[in-house]
Amino acid sequence: MKKLLHIIATPRGNDSSTLKVSKAFLAEFSKKYPGCIIDELNVATAKLPELAIEEVSGKYMLLSGKELSGKPKEAWKKIEAEIARFLAADAYLVSVPMWNFNIPYTLKHYLDVIIQPKYLFRYTASGVEGLAKNKKMVVAASRGGDYSPGSPAQASDLQEPYLRTLFGFVGITDISFLIAQPMNMGLELAEKKLRETILKAKQAARDF
Ligand SMILES: Cc1cc2nc3c(=O)[nH]c(=O)nc-3n(C[C@H](O)[C@H](O)[C@H](O)COP(=O)(O)O)c2cc1C
Repeated sequence: MKKLLHIIATPRGNDSSTLKVSKAFLAEFSKKYPGCIIDELNVATAKLPELAIEEVSGKYMLLSGKELSGKPKEAWKKIEAEIARFLAADAYLVSVPMWNFNIPYTLKHYLDVIIQPKYLFRYTASGVEGLAKNKKMVVAASRGGDYSPGSPAQASDLQEPYLRTLFGFVGITDISFLIAQPMNMGLELAEKKLRETILKAKQAARDF
């Protein structure tokens, strides 16, 4: 394990419940893989490239099997840099709170930037081929409510299925979720659930 990319999608810093889970994971992970570089990307504060006309035109050039050229080629330098950073990792830790049943827009923005034809996926005669191969992922998530399997709100969890579908599309299928929930339905319950998830995070790092 040479490099882990830690993608952070909460702006809450030290107040973040999600990051408490991630920190526990990373503390154990660093013991197991002492030489592993942790590259931290906070999409809540990073200046990500916009997807405006030139960038989107470049995507359609690639989708139609052409090479990038002209203004889109220039505009794509920043996108290619983000993709290179993503692909340089062997493993990922994604720290993501639930926002409106899904992921925060900052993470969606990042995913819209990096998930590109030719780089992360391609269409073949037999269907889509994900190009981010042999990579593992852990998602540390937290939610205000409780969307556990079997609970009444389970069907409203669009976060885990979305992330599994999206990363599966680019070839990342080895994904474990560490979910702290409910974080906003009483302090005592939140603290208990957070403690439990932190223990699971430590174990997940030892098993990683
Ligand atoms: C903009 C926004 C939208 C939210 N939407 C939901 C939601 O749909 N469902 C839910 O259970 N909690 C929701 N929450 C609560 C957060 O998921 C919860 O507090 C989480 O633990 C925050 O993680 P953090 O402390 O790492 O930022 C939302 C919070 C914010 C700020």
